[in-house]
Formats: sequence, structure tokens, C-alpha cells
Amino acid sequence: MEKLLEIKNLKVQYNTDEAVVYALNDFSLDLGQGEILGVVGETGAGKTTMALSIMKLLPEHVAEVTGGSITYRGTDVFTMSQKQLRDLRGAEVSMIFQDPMTSLNPVMTVGSQIDEVLRLHNPDMTKADREKRVAEILTMVGIPPERAVQFPHQFSGGMKQRVVIAMALVAEPNLLLADEPTTALDVTIQAQILALMKNLQEKFGTSMILITHDLGIVAEFCENVAVVYGGEVIERGTVEQVFARAANHPYTDALFQCIPDLTSDMARLTPIPGFVLDSRTAPAGCPFAERCARCTERCKNEKPSIHTVEAGHSIKCHLFENGVSQ
Ligand SMILES: Nc1ncnc2c1ncn2[C@@H]1O[C@H](COP(=O)(O)OP(=O)(O)O)[C@@H](O)[C@H]1O
Ligand SMILES: [Mg+2]
Repeated sequence: MEKLLEIKNLKVQYNTDEAVVYALNDFSLDLGQGEILGVVGETGAGKTTMALSIMKLLPEHVAEVTGGSITYRGTDVFTMSQKQLRDLRGAEVSMIFQDPMTSLNPVMTVGSQIDEVLRLHNPDMTKADREKRVAEILTMVGIPPERAVQFPHQFSGGMKQRVVIAMALVAEPNLLLADEPTTALDVTIQAQILALMKNLQEKFGTSMILITHDLGIVAEFCENVAVVYGGEVIERGTVEQVFARAANHPYTDALFQCIPDLTSDMARLTPIPGFVLDSRTAPAGCPFAERCARCTERCKNEKPSIHTVEAGHSIKCHLFENGVSQ
């Protein structure tokens, strides 16, 4: 698969008045053209920070990139010109945020908001053609096109998220970053929206990163999965490899143990009881050491490297030093 996106040893911290938060520590991840990757991890793991970094949308002044790189189609995102960034955020990458109101303007009709995206990306398109396209994309996401004249507050939560998806897709992005797009929605609507996104992904051949804390969604929707813990990707593989449970990072193991039945609605990723992820100290060793049942002295002091357990399946843990669990 051709490499589309490459995040290498990325380090991002938030410098707040109270503390320095180490959000991403040595975060590495590749994405191939056309790949559908699930990024899974509990709240605070650094998933949103990763997505914002790709778009170079980290909050200014507070966020600081202290190391590493991101390349998109071989170009370094952090050194892109304003024009290259505009193209990246417009024509190349679209992001769907968890809260639809992050992307919607409350005082503009949904039709004119979609129209604005179109106008930005296709300056030569006539008004009539844009109108036609707005109606088409609304229909595609299951919104009657006559609702284009309505305002966001006239839509339910699920419908608002559909509008956001329509806005993300009308630009025909090459990469869709979906940050917990269905977390706020009820299970039925969640399933509908995911099915819709999958259809559109298949139709347009879009590459996709689906951020979620729900392993059930990953199993159903993604071909590959990256497990994030403490600002690092600690396991990466195909859904089959990771869900086979033959070899997993102890954190991934713990995640699976928290889930009674993957096919039920209970496949939510609950933090392992008794611990809260604290990103205010950068760990000297493995970020999971403190919570790990199999932790050794070495784990506390020495950062594990990434070990390949099988082609396409890698685990960042000392236990897998020789490719098999010790
Ligand atoms: N704007 C911010 N200012 C300070 N800390 C932040 C900010 N955004 C995120 N963080 C912190 O960075 C860490 C990673 O957060 P985030 O990327 O939002 O994780 P996730 O999306 O996996 O829940 C957390 O400890 C979070 O509290
Ligand atoms: Mg988040």
C-alpha cells in the first residue's frame, strides 16, 4: 500500500498555567492510501491531539510540538506554506469532530454552509451546479434536500452530525479524520451513520482514520487498528491479528478483559478500574508500567521498542522482544 501519512516520533505537550501536559510521547503511525484505520484508546490517551496535529490545528500558544514529524504525501506538514496548508485542510483532509457544533455555524443555514465549502474548493463551479451538488450530498447522507434552508438548531443531534459528514464529504477529501463521530449519538443512529460513512468511503475510495473508544466499532468498521496509550501507539495490526488475542500488549489485553461481549452495546472502552491516566509526567519507561500486571523493573526505567510479532502486527512492549511473549 502506498504511504499516505507518516507520523514519526511525534511529541506534543500542552503548556498550561498549572502544568505541562505530555499529550503525545514518541507517537508513530503510518497510514496507507485507501486504508481504514481505527485508533482506539481511553479518554486522555492523545487521540484528538494526534488528529489536530495532522491538520496543524493544535491550539496556538498552549500546544507545543517538541519533536518528531508528520509527512503527508511526503511533505512535512509542520513546514507547509499557508497555501499548502489550505490545500491540506481543504482538498486533502477533512475532519469530523465529536461535537457537530464545532463545525457548524449556528446563524447560517446548513445549505449555505455546505455551499461555502463547495465554493472554496471549486471556485469555478456555477451557483446552479453548486445548488445541485448540495441537494445531492444532503440526499446521500439521508437528509431531505428541502431542509437545506434550515438552521442547525432545527436538526436533531444525529441529523446535525449528518450535516457535518456532508460538509466533510462534499470536499471529496482523500483522507477523512473522524474523531469519535458517533459518541454523542444513540446506538441506532450511531450504526446508521457508520454504515453511511462506510458506503461513502467505498464509493470514493477515501482513506480514513476513525478515532473511537469503542472496540466494537473498530471490529465492525475498520481493517486495521492502532491502540494508543499515554500518547504512544502501543500496538498496531490488522483487526484480525489484534482481535485474535494470540499476542497482545498487556494494555490491549486489559481492554479486552473489560468487555464482556464484543457484539453487545457494552463494547465500550472503560478505563481499567482504580486508575486515571495522568499525563503530567513523562514516564521514563513504558507508559503502562504502573498499571501493568506483568511489569518488571526494566519496564519502569527503559522505554520499550516496537517489536514485530507477525508481518503487519507490532507491539511496543519488552515482553515481545524476541517476537513472542516472554
Ligand atoms: N487545550 C489543552 N490544554 C491542556 N491540556 C490539554 C488540551 N487538550 C488536551 N489536553 C490534555 O492532553 C491529553 C491528551 O488529550 P486528548 O488528545 O484530547 O486525548 P483523547 O482525545 O484521547 O481523549 C489529556 O491529558 C488532555 O487533558
Ligand atoms: Mg478526544
